[in-house]
Amino acid sequence: NAPALVDQFGRHIDYVRLSVTDRCDLRCSYCMPEGFKGFEEPADWLDFDEIERLLGAFARLGVRRVRLTGGEPLLRRDISGLARRIASLPGIEDLSLSTNATQLDRHAAALKAAGVTRLNVSLDSLQQARVERINGRDVLAKVMTGLAAAQEAGFAPIKLNMVAMRGSNDDEIDEMVAFCMDRGFVLRLIEAMPMGATGRNTEYLDLQPVKERLRARFGLVETALPGGGPARYLGTADGGFNVGFITPISQHFCESCNRIRIAVDGTAYMCLGQDEKFEFRPLLRDGCSDAELDAAIVEAINLKPERHEFREAPHKLVRFMSMTGG
Ligand code: GTP
Ligand code: 5AD
Ligand code: SF4
Repeated sequence: NAPALVDQFGRHIDYVRLSVTDRCDLRCSYCMPEGFKGFEEPADWLDFDEIERLLGAFARLGVRRVRLTGGEPLLRRDISGLARRIASLPGIEDLSLSTNATQLDRHAAALKAAGVTRLNVSLDSLQQARVERINGRDVLAKVMTGLAAAQEAGFAPIKLNMVAMRGSNDDEIDEMVAFCMDRGFVLRLIEAMPMGATGRNTEYLDLQPVKERLRARFGLVETALPGGGPARYLGTADGGFNVGFITPISQHFCESCNRIRIAVDGTAYMCLGQDEKFEFRPLLRDGCSDAELDAAIVEAINLKPERHEFREAPHKLVRFMSMTGG
């Protein structure tokens, strides 16, 4: 009998998203305000030994997937070394990473060698000026270099995350489809979630009509792809192109939620859209036993709320996405 973490709503939790830093070299409109200063102190970051112990306990209790996130995870020193340690934890079957790719050219080969199996990359526009406006810095060329390096290193398929927003980039969806078809990327269209008040335009775009339009235009059919996340996929019959839709607002997926998030300071957030949390750092630093750590994890999972309220209470959350990495 394999162990399993089950929450109060009967959901099996087998996926941890670990934020390895809350810092980032970009300032995406939907994620962090320009000029944000409220970062965690380095003394409060879990170190690699603490991360390994904590994830080891989660794995012992049934977690099978880990995704490294940020902020921007490639900013954490020796991220490949950390990846190697997590990939070799007993029970972990899938180690993935979500990045903005600005530094991916120097990390791609090492991440692959360390045991990272899947890469997701943020790319909201193919226009230089728009990337500068949406993502806060002029980085399109660096991202393209990073993507090429990741393909060269053998990551396949790479998923490109496009947060589609009315009036920002919603006129570019077809160009992004063509780009991904041409380069062999999986495109994922994402509805912007109202996380904190970033003071920028992140206007909601309902993706259901977009999905129906793309389905008809390219003759797409429902399909499934490797991954642990909430995307629902359509693809061409020959499998040559796939597009995923992540629709937290128009069609939420909370009833099938299988994940929790751990921030860089060891705080576990039980839902992306709620405040329930559990702090693991004090336990880890007070020399808790393995049994105490396991009991704390079970207690934390019991705090997991049923669902987010992004639609009903869009201004409820004050924390920014940069703390939990999406
Ligand atoms: P795969 O394993 O490849 O499916 O990854 P993923 O889609 O889970 O990860 P990624 O980091 O690429 O996240 C893509 C988008 O999905 C981001 O906008 C996340 O915020 C969003 N997302 C992932 N998990 C959840 C979730 O539990 N709730 C909500 N509301 N959004 C989520
Ligand atoms: N709403 C939806 N997606 C978001 N991401 C970051 N912030 C938000 C938000 N407010 C996405 C990024 C990244 C992924 C990990 O999360 O595009 O690709
Ligand atoms: Fe899970 Fe919360 Fe995301 Fe819903 S919003 S899928 S409950 S983390």
